[in-house]
Amino acid sequence: MIPNCIHRHYAAGLARNTSIFAGIASHRNRGRALVVAAAHNIPSIHNIPSPSVAASRRTLSSSSSPRDRPTTRRPSTRTVVAFSAAISSAFLLYTASQQTRTMSSKLIPANPADVMVIRDITPNVTTLSVPFARYGRFEVGGRCTVVRMTNGGVMLFSPVAYTPEAVAVVSRLGGDKGVRYIVAPDIEHHIFISEWAKAFPNARIIGPQGLPEKRAETKGKDPKINTDDKFFAVLADKYAQPSTPQSIAPDFDADFGLVYFDMHPNKEIVLFFRPDNVLIQADLMFNLPAVEQYARVDASQRTGAPGHANFLNRLFQSFMKTEGDVTWARRFQWYAASKANRPRFSEAVHVIDGWPFEVIIPCHGETIEHDAKATFRKVFQWHLDSKTA
Ligand SMILES: [Fe+2]
Repeated sequence: MIPNCIHRHYAAGLARNTSIFAGIASHRNRGRALVVAAAHNIPSIHNIPSPSVAASRRTLSSSSSPRDRPTTRRPSTRTVVAFSAAISSAFLLYTASQQTRTMSSKLIPANPADVMVIRDITPNVTTLSVPFARYGRFEVGGRCTVVRMTNGGVMLFSPVAYTPEAVAVVSRLGGDKGVRYIVAPDIEHHIFISEWAKAFPNARIIGPQGLPEKRAETKGKDPKINTDDKFFAVLADKYAQPSTPQSIAPDFDADFGLVYFDMHPNKEIVLFFRPDNVLIQADLMFNLPAVEQYARVDASQRTGAPGHANFLNRLFQSFMKTEGDVTWARRFQWYAASKANRPRFSEAVHVIDGWPFEVIIPCHGETIEHDAKATFRKVFQWHLDSKTA
């Protein structure tokens, strides 16, 4: 398709604008702004006016105002907070840089069919859970969510490996229409798009701004990624306010509420499946440890098994849990994930909070099937208490 609009890609803004990231901003593809031409072919999204850079900087400046900070529980010391944010942020940044350095085939299980856990969450929603350890150390797990759409076919959110068992799930839920949509929920979760798109060539691919260009950079370097895959819809950064959803297509919009966290380091697309009240998201909120995703892996093969997880796994899991005291998770969300534009991030959180979801399906960690709304509010309490954009 002919490029028909120009977008500015500010995924590196977080790294450029805070001293927390000063020591780690030199990773490849971070710490620099990219100006890219995005090749889109969805009429409902292109030609969207973007706020000026100056306006963006004003927003960033105002977001750090003490007036916007929560009035609830605070970190005990600035040193501890800085350490927390640095560790968490380093993970996010290193994740992004690692993705481009490492052949994707080395990041995934060699035997996905043998370790995949398939589970029906509702009559219309099934998850495909697999083990996944970032750079072989952080056990975060991976998960695809398969949703039977109202008008037939399925939506795949964050596809995992194409296996006979996964295809059987698609056939059971999607019938003759198969895969209708493939959603790459952020700038990282896209490795398996190509094999599903090859099997279902009529599937419409959706992703965040910058992902088509990122995939194009792998041309000739990564056999898992077909750089000729066409995106049906690319979510635009700085599109109005998060409370104004970007339209995908009538059948998609009818089934799913959508919020795009363009200010998140990984640029998260969050969906709400209205018929079953299910919230589906990738890296916005982890729920570690990843138990289900490692249920078919022998403990001797693991680095983060309960009871003998290594130090880094225990440390990371303390940031990314939802059980018990979630102060560290709040700090991560407040000081790291939403640093680039906290008011805008808070507004997006408020939109999600307005949906009547009863289940949260994350890509990393356990699916939350009880007290989902209360859990979400616990983790994002500071954003819910704070000003929005
Ligand atoms: Fe992720």
